[in-house]
Amino acid sequence: MKILGIESSCDETAASVYSEGKILSNIIASQVIHQKFGGVVPELASRAHHRSIVETTDQALTEAGANIDDLDGIAVANGPGLMGSLLVGLSFAKGLAVSRNIPLIGVNHIDAHMYANFIEHKEVYPFVALIVSGGHTRLVYAEKILHHTILGKTRDDAAGEAFDKIGKILNLPYPAGPVVDKLSCDGDGTFHQFPRSMIDKGLDFSFSGLKTSVLYYVQEKGERYVEKNLNHICASVSEAITEVLIEKLKRAVKTTGVHHVMVAGGVSANSMLRKKLLHYADEMNLNLMIPSIQFCTDNAAMIAITGALKIRENLVDDLSLRPFAKLQK
Ligand code: KG4
Ligand code: ZN
Repeated sequence: MKILGIESSCDETAASVYSEGKILSNIIASQVIHQKFGGVVPELASRAHHRSIVETTDQALTEAGANIDDLDGIAVANGPGLMGSLLVGLSFAKGLAVSRNIPLIGVNHIDAHMYANFIEHKEVYPFVALIVSGGHTRLVYAEKILHHTILGKTRDDAAGEAFDKIGKILNLPYPAGPVVDKLSCDGDGTFHQFPRSMIDKGLDFSFSGLKTSVLYYVQEKGERYVEKNLNHICASVSEAITEVLIEKLKRAVKTTGVHHVMVAGGVSANSMLRKKLLHYADEMNLNLMIPSIQFCTDNAAMIAITGALKIRENLVDDLSLRPFAKLQK
């Protein structure tokens, strides 16, 4: 079975071909245009998707040695995301599917981040997933395929959003998550104790207090001090974010009693988080699944594999498939 995956929910145009447990190609066209604005500009994003979607898909098929007519399904992210961006990928996928009579499969972008783990790990249930991306932070319990219960979510900023917004306060380029990560590697995480909001309470998250606290800290200490101690400040911020994430994950694992645990989304690329997770899983003898870096941030391989799982479950869509900007709950 060969599945083409298409992803255009935010600022990456991506296409990938998945077949029989293997990713045959994984092409990502990143949009650099947003950098100078310090965040994604929706109108520019959809225009850029429009310009690159044909070439990106073509490249994915060529690299996989596949023909459009070889495909058993076309999977496309239909939400959540930016409406204009989603529409480009979805309309393109619909056109391709209808013109060649190929089944169309709508894929939830957040579910796809989770199922990206099954590219490199055995498919197992039940599991607890910590999803940490730029737009979402949540803990999910999956009893079986596509049967998810939300255990907790962020009440304000997502973890990736916290990295990006704090990075902006520290004058770092967008997206700041990977930059803060890199700077943290040469810093002392105990340099300053930033707040760990809601760490002792339940399974919900809150990161906006941390952002405000960094802002006040920078205002109080001044630019020169911050510049001089940038590595330490970044490490202290990373400590605060990752400590909360790990504590909540531990609580979710304890509450549900699962053995299989996964982490997904852009922030799962964070080196401090990965190190802490490995240590925790080792200590508790858990089956920890984290995607390799290329499958952490937005990509179409995760859409293709989720499409393959959905086809297996006979979950196929038709041309009435609609995009959606926000998750229902
Ligand atoms: O999953 P993703 O690619 O897109 C969304 O669905 O939102 O996540 C992007 C987020 C951004 O906020 C980015 O700064 C963050 O993931 N990110 C990281 C790292 N790599 C990406 N945050 C911390 N450390 C990283 N290494
Ligand atoms: Zn994403």
